[in-house]
Amino acid sequence: MGNRKGGVGKTTSVINLATYLAIVGQKILIIDTDPQANCSSILLKDFNRRDKPNLIDALEAPPGEILLSEIADDTFHPGMKIISNTTRCMLWERKVAQNSDAVLGIDRLIKQDPALNNYDFVFFDTPPNLGVMMNNALMASDYVIIPIPPSDQFSLDGLAAYLSLIQGIRQHNNRLKLLGVLITKYDPNWGNSLRNLNQIKIYFAEKGINIFSTYIHNCPEIDIAHVKRKTIFQSNLESSSATEYSALGRNLLELFHVIYGRNFI
Ligand SMILES: Nc1ncnc2c1ncn2[C@@H]1O[C@H](COP(=O)(O)OP(=O)(O)O)[C@@H](O)[C@H]1O
Ligand SMILES: [Mg+2]
Repeated sequence: MGNRKGGVGKTTSVINLATYLAIVGQKILIIDTDPQANCSSILLKDFNRRDKPNLIDALEAPPGEILLSEIADDTFHPGMKIISNTTRCMLWERKVAQNSDAVLGIDRLIKQDPALNNYDFVFFDTPPNLGVMMNNALMASDYVIIPIPPSDQFSLDGLAAYLSLIQGIRQHNNRLKLLGVLITKYDPNWGNSLRNLNQIKIYFAEKGINIFSTYIHNCPEIDIAHVKRKTIFQSNLESSSATEYSALGRNLLELFHVIYGRNFI
């Protein structure tokens, strides 16, 4: 899940889409590549145990010493694990700026760990910039979903730069595909939302990029869930976003069924 802009719904979408997939029986790993660790703070069963090894510990360890599959932490759902992040990430980014881990650190950790094949899906929550962690996440991914709230003009302004980063990464990771754009925080009655949505549709249609037919509408229950450090499925199953993230999850499973010819449900 990526967009260079913050506040667009990346973390919310990873948390709730991944949770829906776990609820329907998929084995899920989330890798939190954002040093703000919002995703970890909501999903970790025990957020206060800071002594547990995290993504940065694994990246800094000698090769083979810390396996992601072994440090994946429990979440509230038994089918979903998370590798958490820490603010030390920013120091690590500076330290590796000139070496191959600046783009291939996570890829290296995944390749050395065959037990990760036991997961059906690995999600990356990404930071709001085009830095070292974003490169790492894109180099290790097969697909990108770009969340875009039509109400946020600034998130539209940064799109071209993000798309060209994806294009650049594809020179090195030819598995990477843009799976689609996810409309988030949508309120057709708010400001320029409708006009911006039309712009988004035209912009991506010209590039042949899919926009998911499920839109995530603006939903105050999302904020309430975050305050309680819960997913929308734990906090309010009746909310529009619980229904919409479920629909999006079904869209994805159908799409992957077509792509891989494998029944995910
Ligand atoms: N569908 C939604 N409706 C209302 N608020 C939302 C929705 N999705 C996200 N938010 C709120 O928007 C803010 C940014 O969301 P977040 O997922 O943290 O974005 P990002 O990870 O891109 O920075 C948070 O306060 C979150 O509660
Ligand atoms: Mg976030």
